[in-house]
Amino acid sequence: MAEPILEVSGLVKHYPLTRGIVFRKHVGAVKAVDGVDFRLDRGETLGIVGESGCGKSTVAKMLVNLERPTAGSIRWKGEDITRLSGRALKTVRRNIQMVFQDPYTSLNPRMTVGDIIGEPYDIHPEVAPKGDRRRRVQELLDVVGLNPEYINRYPHQFSGGQRQRIGIARGLALRPEVIVADEPVSALDVSVQAQVINLMDRLQSEFDLSYVFIAHDLSIVRHISDRVGVMYLGRIVETGTDTEIYDHPTHPYTQALLSAVPVPDPRAREHRERIVLTGDVPSPTNIPSGCRFRTRCWKAREKCAVEVPALAVPPWFAETGGPAAHDSACHFAEEKQVVPAEEGRG
Ligand SMILES: Nc1ncnc2c1ncn2[C@@H]1O[C@H](COP(=O)(O)OP(=O)(O)O)[C@@H](O)[C@H]1O
Ligand SMILES: [Mg+2]
Repeated sequence: MAEPILEVSGLVKHYPLTRGIVFRKHVGAVKAVDGVDFRLDRGETLGIVGESGCGKSTVAKMLVNLERPTAGSIRWKGEDITRLSGRALKTVRRNIQMVFQDPYTSLNPRMTVGDIIGEPYDIHPEVAPKGDRRRRVQELLDVVGLNPEYINRYPHQFSGGQRQRIGIARGLALRPEVIVADEPVSALDVSVQAQVINLMDRLQSEFDLSYVFIAHDLSIVRHISDRVGVMYLGRIVETGTDTEIYDHPTHPYTQALLSAVPVPDPRAREHRERIVLTGDVPSPTNIPSGCRFRTRCWKAREKCAVEVPALAVPPWFAETGGPAAHDSACHFAEEKQVVPAEEGRG
């Protein structure tokens, strides 16, 4: 087994819902993240996928310490970072950096690119002494494929793809070991998405990085992920290697998501089954009992309303082994090939 660099266990973030301005009355909670477990091994990419509102950004913010978990632990090389403070916390923060979703709003328009990329050195001057910064920032621009002479320009002078390269350069400034990328290409044109993903792929081997790569669409993470976790309403419902998830999904929600991925080949399109989910995603203030996916699941039975399915290898697959034997939180997990394996690849 590889060495885990991050281990997340029982992670919860509930935002209290209050009514009234003077007398704030507690009237419930937004269960944005409601019990998430995963591990990230050194040098690997874990893709986290799920529809908008399922809690992906909240997980990302807890990983980089922008939000404090309501419960659960985040272990960095064995140490729970949710309990750290002072110097120890600062060291961990340096090592886990975030790349944000929208390069149009996440870069300060009044700062030059040089100041944006070099800003992390204000907090961590030990990484780059003052006299050394300009050279470092220029090196970072070069590393992400931008002209080092652009150092004095402002964000509006760049395209969306270039801005995301600036965001990535900033994320690399402190030489972190982990990058949490929250939908880094969702705001970009399709033609530019692949370039940014290829860049991240190259940087990963160059700088020995581990990635948590978040997306709302399974097709985006396929090429970059070693393993994938599928999220629904604040929880991971299925997790496995890319082959296990894409070619042998066993959770109905993953199967539905895969059936929505466009298939370019018309022959392949004919062969596959289209799963259309009924109803809307329930509100995270009012999560269904038992299996949280049951209100939209075509397989739901009585047991699903009563018993929360654990994220584990279903015993009937554990017995036979093979690619269907991976973690799936479904009482009736069943293999279903949604995208024909050959055509679906690539
Ligand atoms: N600060 C907050 N206060 C209250 N609710 C929040 C807050 N941040 C996020 N939420 C809610 O938590 C849920 C998950 O949000 P988010 O993590 O942004 O999902 P995703 O990134 O998957 O789209 C959503 O219902 C969202 O409205
Ligand atoms: Mg988000």
